[in-house]
This record gives sequence, C-alpha cells and structure tokens, in this order.
Amino acid sequence: MRTFIDQELTALAKNLEPISGKLEGKTILINGAAGFLGNYFVGVLQHLNRTKFQKNPIHIIGLDNFITGVKDSPFFDANDPHLEFVIHDVRVPYETHRSVDYIMHAAGIASPFYYAKYPLDTIAATIDGLKNTLEFARTKNPQGIIYFSSSEIYGDPHADAIPTPETYRGNVSSTGLRACYDEAKRLGETIATIHHRLYNLPVTIVRPFNVYGPGMKPDDRRVVPNFLTAALEGRTIEIHNRGDQTRTFSYATDAVSGFFRVLLLGRPGEAYNIGSDHEEISVLELAKRVEAAHGKPLDIKLASYPEGYPVGDPARRMPDLKKARTELGYDPKVVLHDGLVRTLRWFELLRKMEGAKMMNAVEMLSAEH
Ligand SMILES: NC(=O)c1ccc[n+]([C@@H]2O[C@H](COP(=O)([O-])OP(=O)(O)OC[C@H]3O[C@@H](n4cnc5c(N)ncnc54)[C@H](O)[C@@H]3O)[C@@H](O)[C@H]2O)c1
Repeated sequence: MRTFIDQELTALAKNLEPISGKLEGKTILINGAAGFLGNYFVGVLQHLNRTKFQKNPIHIIGLDNFITGVKDSPFFDANDPHLEFVIHDVRVPYETHRSVDYIMHAAGIASPFYYAKYPLDTIAATIDGLKNTLEFARTKNPQGIIYFSSSEIYGDPHADAIPTPETYRGNVSSTGLRACYDEAKRLGETIATIHHRLYNLPVTIVRPFNVYGPGMKPDDRRVVPNFLTAALEGRTIEIHNRGDQTRTFSYATDAVSGFFRVLLLGRPGEAYNIGSDHEEISVLELAKRVEAAHGKPLDIKLASYPEGYPVGDPARRMPDLKKARTELGYDPKVVLHDGLVRTLRWFELLRKMEGAKMMNAVEMLSAEH
C-alpha cells in the first residue's frame, strides 16, 4: 500500500517540479483535507517535505468535518509534526494564530448521491464555508487562494459549447435535484470574484471535470468507483439513462497538478477548467473500459436511476483546456485505460487491507476466548 501511494505521490511531485519551489517553507490551509482530492494535496505536500524541503518544510493545516471524508487516510502521515489536522466544520469560522500563505477551499459534498442526500449541507459547505474562508483570508493576507467550483456550473451545455470554454455561461436549472450543488458552486464563483474586486484578495477559481483515481472511496457513488466496485464484487454494472451521456475522465495526478497550477500561477479573479480533453466516451463505453481494465467479462445492463439519484445530469461534458494549457502549462497525460487499471489496483489493495484487519480482529477475538 505504501509503495503504491509513494508511486502516486512521486508522479504528482514530478508533474509539479517546475512550480513546487513556490511552496517551500509556506503554510497552507486545506479545507476538505480528508476527501479524495484532499488526500492528494496533503500527501504530496508531505512528500515534498520528505524529498525536497527537509530544511524548510511546508506547514499544512487540514480541516474536515468527515461528513464524507475518510479518517486515518493511508495517503498521509497523521503524526507528521508539520501537519495539523483539525476536525472542523467550515460552516463555522476557523481561527489560528499562524500566518497562512496559501488556502485551498475544497470542502464540499461532491458525489451526486451524497449531495442529493444532504442538499442543505452541500449549499452551506460551499457558500458559508467559502465566505468564512475569504473573511479568514482577509485577516491573513495570503499569496493565493483557490476555490473549488465545478464543471457542473455549466449545467447541460448546448452542443455548440462542447468542448466547453470558461466563457460559456451555462444552462443550469435553479430548481432541479442537482441545483443544490450546481447553483451553490455558481454563487460561490460570484462570491469569490466579488472578494477579489472589493478587497483585492488573490483568489482563483477552478472548475474540475470528472477527476478519478486512487484515494476515492469504493462507496463514493461517483461513476468510476461505482463501476470498479461492482466489477470487484462481481455485481452487475447498471447503466442509467441509456448510457449515452458522454464524459472525459481526468486522472488524479494530472488534475491535482492542474489545481496547484491554478493556485500558484493563475490570474486572481479568473476561472480555469481542469480535466481531460481526450477520449470523450459514453457511460456505456466507460463500463466496457472497466471490463477491459478488469480483464474479465462483466455483466453490464441498462437500468433505471436508483432511488435517491439526482436525475438531470448533462448529456455531454468535456472541457476546453486552451486557457489552462497556455496560461498555466497544464498538460494532462494519463490515458483512461492506465488510470482505470491503477484505480482498480487501489481498490483491490483496500479490500486486502480490510480483509487483513478483519482477520486480525477475528484472531484477537479467538485469542480472548
Ligand atoms: N473530484 C471531482 O471530480 C470534482 C469535480 C468537480 C468539483 N469538485 C470539487 O472539488 C472539491 C473536492 O472534491 P473531492 O472529490 O475531494 O470531494 P470529496 O467529497 O471526496 O471531499 C470533500 C471533503 O470535504 C469535506 N466536507 C464536506 N462538508 C464539509 C464541511 N462543512 N466542513 C468541513 N469539511 C467538509 C468532506 O468530509 C470531504 O472529506 C469539492 O468542493 C468538489 O465539489 C471535485
């Protein structure tokens, strides 16, 4: 498990090589540090401390309320003296006596199944969380702040807006089942840009497009972990809505290097798409790619939406990445097959670890009796 994660973090640190020097000796606050992306942020900063900044390490403050995040993530060392991990709900203001150089507001409820389950918490984590973060930033004078918006702010783009550039204004329902996420993210962008205009805060906005990879929870319920978990458990992969909606998928080590580029190189007040512009495939095709990554035939069936799923997902989603490529040097590389194989391997390792934990518990119990 450690070797696997080290490989991930080494690949990511390599992607960050041209810009990671900007982080040396800085203090970084990460909201949502126990989430999928938060795992990579904390993990790679610790990796940089171990390999590059031994003399002048980064100090990391990670906040999370664990509504969907994982406690005891294998991605990072919770006993590291340069990491303060605080159980904190970002709907409540956070305070620290420390100066803070960079802030990442990635707290949120990102999986459609969970935001449909917690719609008001979803709005509050984005809106109250962001307002508190920006007020906090005003007292700290940081060099950079990144707000995690979403490709969902584009809603269901018109055909002539695919690939979708940052200038596209969106086609979003304000009352549909996805509105708690989409509309909160949109208002978050407004709040971020107002704070930039009024107070000159150096805040940038990122719009991630379908990021996946190791570090996701098998029960995350987003499409990639959903299909991979079904494959490993030998269950039927159920495809909703005929499976003809299309997406591109961005592997974590590519996307996370893009997020750091937006934080460190992005123009304040600007929004950037980060994702993949290769291999736009249907969800049905994704299931077939999962089958190929798994190397065994899978049962793939069309089915209706499951109970609790927020219907109304976009027909096509694919970013125009010109702005990120030209302004930030963003250059995603991992092809879907390789990323799926790696994520599948991660889920297998998790299952082995869970199995070993259960074996240990059984052995301990039998020793007690
Ligand atoms: N991963 C993607 O493909 C993707 C796509 C678009 C946008 N985003 C955005 O990027 C951010 C990170 O995404 P992720 O994939 O890591 O999501 P995630 O759900 O894995 O992680 C989010 C973390 O935020 C925490 N959180 C939620 N509400 C909180 C609160 N009130 N206080 C403190 N912590 C709270 C959760 O416990 C979780 O650990 C989110 O804002 C998400 O909306 C991600």
